[in-house]
Amino acid sequence: MKKNIAVITGGTSGEREISLKSVQTILNHIDTNKYNTFKVLINGKEWNVLENEKEHAIDKNDFSFTSNNKKIKFDAVFIIIHGTPGEDGKIQGYLDILGIPYTSCGVLVSALTFSKLYCNRFLNQFGIRTANSFLFKKGDAISSIENQLSFPCFVKPNNGGSSVGASRVNVRNDLNAAIEKAFSVDAEIIIEEYLAGTEVTCGVVDFKGEIRALPITEIVPKTAFFDYEQKYSANGADEITPARLSSAITKEIQETVVKVFKLLGCRNMSRIDFIIKDNVPFLLEVNTLPGLSPASILPKQAKVAGIDLTELFTGFVDQLFV
Ligand SMILES: Nc1ncnc2c1ncn2[C@@H]1O[C@H](COP(=O)(O)OP(=O)(O)O)[C@@H](O)[C@H]1O
Ligand SMILES: [Mg+2]
Repeated sequence: MKKNIAVITGGTSGEREISLKSVQTILNHIDTNKYNTFKVLINGKEWNVLENEKEHAIDKNDFSFTSNNKKIKFDAVFIIIHGTPGEDGKIQGYLDILGIPYTSCGVLVSALTFSKLYCNRFLNQFGIRTANSFLFKKGDAISSIENQLSFPCFVKPNNGGSSVGASRVNVRNDLNAAIEKAFSVDAEIIIEEYLAGTEVTCGVVDFKGEIRALPITEIVPKTAFFDYEQKYSANGADEITPARLSSAITKEIQETVVKVFKLLGCRNMSRIDFIIKDNVPFLLEVNTLPGLSPASILPKQAKVAGIDLTELFTGFVDQLFV
C-alpha cells in the first residue's frame, strides 16, 4: 500500500504567501507512484486538508481527517511552512507527541536556528564569523546600548524571515522607526553591525546519502539591501549562480555550509546567507526551510548542480521510512 504523506503549508507569518507557492514545488516533485500526497493548509487554529478539490477539517487529536465516513491517517508529514509554526519547532513538537515522522529539523534545531542571534552565538564557538550584534527586547532602554552603536547599522526581527521588518539605519535619527518596524514582527529584535560587501547564499542538501553544498548564488539587490520586494518581484535583485567568487572563497563557503549543517544537526536541506566583507564571509542566518517557489534560490542552485528535484524531495520522504 502506498503511504499517505501530508504536505503542510500556510502558517501565519509574513512568509505565508511564499509557503503557498513552495508547497506546489513539493507536490509537483514527490513521486506519486511511491506516495499519496495531500495538501494540508494551516491557518492559525484552522487546519484543513484538500482531497480532490474538497476541504476536510483535520482532527488535531491524531492528525487525521474523515472522508466518506472513512478515517484517513498520515504516515508522515512534509513540512513546508516558512516561519511560525513550521520553521520554529512548534509543529515538530506536536508531531513528536503524536509519533508521526516528519521531514526537516527536529524541535531543538528548528527553534535554535529560528532565533538568528542564539544560533549565531552557538556557531561563533566553532569559529564561524557573524556580525557583532545586540539582542533588544520590548521594554529595553536604548540608552543601555546606545554608546556601543555605530552607523550605519542593521535592525531586524530575531525570529523573522524574508526580510520582513528589516531596515538599514544610516543615522541615529532613523533608529527608533526601524526598531518599531522590527517590533511589529517580533518581540525580540537584533541591532547589528552593518556589513558592507557582497551578499551570497548557499544551499546544502542531503542527497543520496551525502551532505553536499550546492553552487553559491550571488545577490545583487537594486536597492539598499535584499528586502522583500527584491526577493520576490520580477524586477527584483539579480541572482547570479554560480557566484562570481574566487575558488578559495567558494571553497571556504561551501565547506562552511556543510560544517554548519552538521554542527547544528540539520536534516534534508538548508540555505545559509552570508555577506563577504573584505574577502571574509560573515554568516547572516541559517534557513532550515528555505523558499521553494519558482522565484526561490535553492531549486535554481539544485538545477545548476544537476540535482533532480523529484529525486531530492522524494528522497527526503524515503529517509523517514528507512
Ligand atoms: N548585518 C547586516 N548588514 C548588512 N545587511 C544585512 C545585515 N543583516 C541582514 N542584512 C540584509 O537583510 C536581508 C535579510 O536578513 P537575514 O538575516 O537574511 O534575514 P531574513 O532573510 O530571515 O529576513 C539580508 O539578505 C541582507 O540583505
Ligand atoms: Mg535571509
